[in-house]
Amino acid sequence: MDVLRTVCREQVTGVDISTGMLAVARERAVRPGGPPTAWVRGDARDLPFGPAFDLVVSFGAFGHFLPGELPGLFAQVHSVLRPGGRFAFPIGAPARPGSRGYWALLGFDAAMRVRNAVWRPPFVMYYRDFRLGDVRRELARAGFSVELYALPEFGRRNDGSPRCRMVVATKPGSAE
Ligand SMILES: C[S@@+](CC[C@H](N)C(=O)[O-])C[C@H]1O[C@@H](n2cnc3c(N)ncnc32)[C@H](O)[C@@H]1O
Repeated sequence: MDVLRTVCREQVTGVDISTGMLAVARERAVRPGGPPTAWVRGDARDLPFGPAFDLVVSFGAFGHFLPGELPGLFAQVHSVLRPGGRFAFPIGAPARPGSRGYWALLGFDAAMRVRNAVWRPPFVMYYRDFRLGDVRRELARAGFSVELYALPEFGRRNDGSPRCRMVVATKPGSAE
């Protein structure tokens, strides 16, 4: 939110489903000046806004959505953007099979699946389910045009591909 307030002019709105997480965020946002800030408790799958935003960003939350929820999630983001508005977020390359990161993420997701098989309510947090191919397809299906930008700060894999990319999905129409 602090960073967004350096690049946005009219208003910055933070949304989270958790009152506790909103309270932490509110406490930590310290940068003075900039546009007004709003903190809204809401479910990203049922956003409480009309088409009012030029930009939507998301960090660290996609693991909380099952692959089958992506169409609804992306349709919601599309519905709150003005024509020409953008939905931007980083996405990491999958860990190389056999690498330490690969086994760590596989182990985490497997433990979470076991936990959710025996425990109610389930806690959805899977690292390996948010895949670039699915994401591109579902963004296009929701009506976005999609561009990818390498984020060189995060380095490259041995095959030269970026470790992290920025996905920029644009809602058709002209921004005024
Ligand atoms: C790992 S935290 C990241 C928090 C923050 N975006 C950041 O970068 O520090 C994931 C957040 O997603 C929120 N979240 C999970 N499911 C959500 C949903 N359906 N709608 C809105 N927020 C959700 C959680 O409450 C949690 O605060």
